[in-house]
Amino acid sequence: SKGEYRHYMLKEIFEQPKVIEAALEGRMSASSVLVESFGPDAQALFQKTRQVHIIACGTSYHAGLVARYWLERYAGVPVQVEVASEYRYRHPVVPEGTLFVTLSQSGETADTLAALRFAKTLGYVGTLAICNVPGSSLVRESDMSLMTRAGPEIGVASTKAFTTQLIALLLLTLSVSKAKGQPEQPEILAGLQALPSLCQQVLGLDAQIEALSQAFAEKHHALFLGRGAHYPIALEGALKLKEISYIHAEAYPAGELKHGPLALVDSEMPVISVAPNDELLEKLKSNLQEVRARGGQLFVFADRKVGISAQEDIRVLELPEVHEALAPLLYTLPLQLLSYHVAVLKGTDVDQPRNLAKSVTVE
Ligand code: F6R
Repeated sequence: SKGEYRHYMLKEIFEQPKVIEAALEGRMSASSVLVESFGPDAQALFQKTRQVHIIACGTSYHAGLVARYWLERYAGVPVQVEVASEYRYRHPVVPEGTLFVTLSQSGETADTLAALRFAKTLGYVGTLAICNVPGSSLVRESDMSLMTRAGPEIGVASTKAFTTQLIALLLLTLSVSKAKGQPEQPEILAGLQALPSLCQQVLGLDAQIEALSQAFAEKHHALFLGRGAHYPIALEGALKLKEISYIHAEAYPAGELKHGPLALVDSEMPVISVAPNDELLEKLKSNLQEVRARGGQLFVFADRKVGISAQEDIRVLELPEVHEALAPLLYTLPLQLLSYHVAVLKGTDVDQPRNLAKSVTVE
């Protein structure tokens, strides 16, 4: 039941510290990731893995896009990520030693399942499903699986399923790296252990985010900007806003702004940006200046330390410091809350947005 919460979506957003903990349980220690979490064959399979293809739909696809940054940076493995409905109708070229990974909350998404069945004819080194539903078709038909342990997700808009997929993908990154004989990454492991409590802190910003949401109630469009692994987080923020509040939202990698979308920016255009304290921060800041110079209204979710201060045309919400690898997880939360509160203000059916189904079992 929804308990004290007004909607399932809000309940599921607030469950994230708990389910992230569950997703980590027994799968790592303070000094090491447990490769066997992916099954008895995982060690041998990951050892042979020379690249990874990730296939999913919707929000799950966005999790895959984040994982590309992680697997390339922390495991040194090249990655392709694609939506299932495109992949399955292409003629993919599969280099030797390629691992096929599907991501799905339900494990029953028709295109993702069809992509897996197709992939099995293409000579992959193995197939892995990262999924929230044990015994689902995707899990049954894959060589290996890892459950995300988010528990039932009732709200159509995916929230806790996404963040637990990210946890699973970070465990995958560390496991592939370890199986290939690369050194363990103690800072990331420590960061993972600290993550549930950091998420709890960020959820404490709820009232401030609710106040911020007022500015969106009358808006027809919104632009989300991010760089690096936060570009997919911007995509996910835009998807959440459009699916539950019906406000047209688009996401861009911040560096693409001047290649077109800047033409849309005026005082009517809210621009939401995630600004963690990473190597791309200075570049992002200059992109934000470009928005300000056109009169755009900026909403920035930023690391406490980055020194973006609130001004008349910039509203800033500060997030706690977090290891760079884990920032995409943490910065997802305020965007979920923002879209939730905007939808509530607009009076939409938050848990059952029009035209959408929880599980898309037809193509
Ligand atoms: C968006 C949303 C959808 C799903 C997509 C894939 O909030 O929920 O975009 O992510 O339909 O579903 P699964 O993950 O079940 O394969």
